Amino acid sequence: MKKQVLAFGASNSIKSINKTLATYAANQLTNTSINLVDLNNFEMPIYSIDHENNIGIPQLAFEFKELIKNANGIIISFAEHNGAYSTAFKNIFDWISRIEKDIWYGNPMFLMATAPGPRGGKSVLKMAVDRIGKSNPNVVAQFSLPSFGTNFSNKGITDPGLANEFKQQLQLFIEALS
Ligand SMILES: Cc1cc2nc3c(=O)[nH]c(=O)nc-3n(C[C@H](O)[C@H](O)[C@H](O)COP(=O)(O)O)c2cc1C
Repeated sequence: MKKQVLAFGASNSIKSINKTLATYAANQLTNTSINLVDLNNFEMPIYSIDHENNIGIPQLAFEFKELIKNANGIIISFAEHNGAYSTAFKNIFDWISRIEKDIWYGNPMFLMATAPGPRGGKSVLKMAVDRIGKSNPNVVAQFSLPSFGTNFSNKGITDPGLANEFKQQLQLFIEALS
């Protein structure tokens, strides 16, 4: 049976460059069923313990969790906002972390980040690899793409060194998937 890969940009921007990068990575996979998710479809009240006590965990959080459960692997590319996760992602992360301890079900994960600037979202990528890696030992690959406007075109990653690094990391993810 085909492996199922859940992929998304951890951003709620309609023109998200991280969604573009996550989509690009997912499209490199062969013989795989890709589930590309838009975080705008998972907008929930800003997490608070009071909301949780008053209204419970929103249905959308359970639906997002179900996507993770049904996946055999996950690709995420993180938008960096003030050195950290976008609010859109952090809110989903907070809500789903309240459902049960096991957030990612041990799925192999390829974590990436890109930004218009030369640091390529390295801060948020480190944060994500550290944090998600604590609860899921299967964060098998990571990649940061600096200066998205310069290094990415409709043909993909244009800088040969970065393209090669991406390929190597993608291969680690593919091996973990099989
Ligand atoms: C509130 C805000 C904070 C940002 N902070 C950072 C930052 O800390 N580092 C960075 O490289 N880019 C930062 N940016 C620029 C984002 O990297 C840029 O908007 C990028 O396109 C976000 O990814 P996305 O298109 O996938 O949403 C910030 C943008 C916004 C709107």
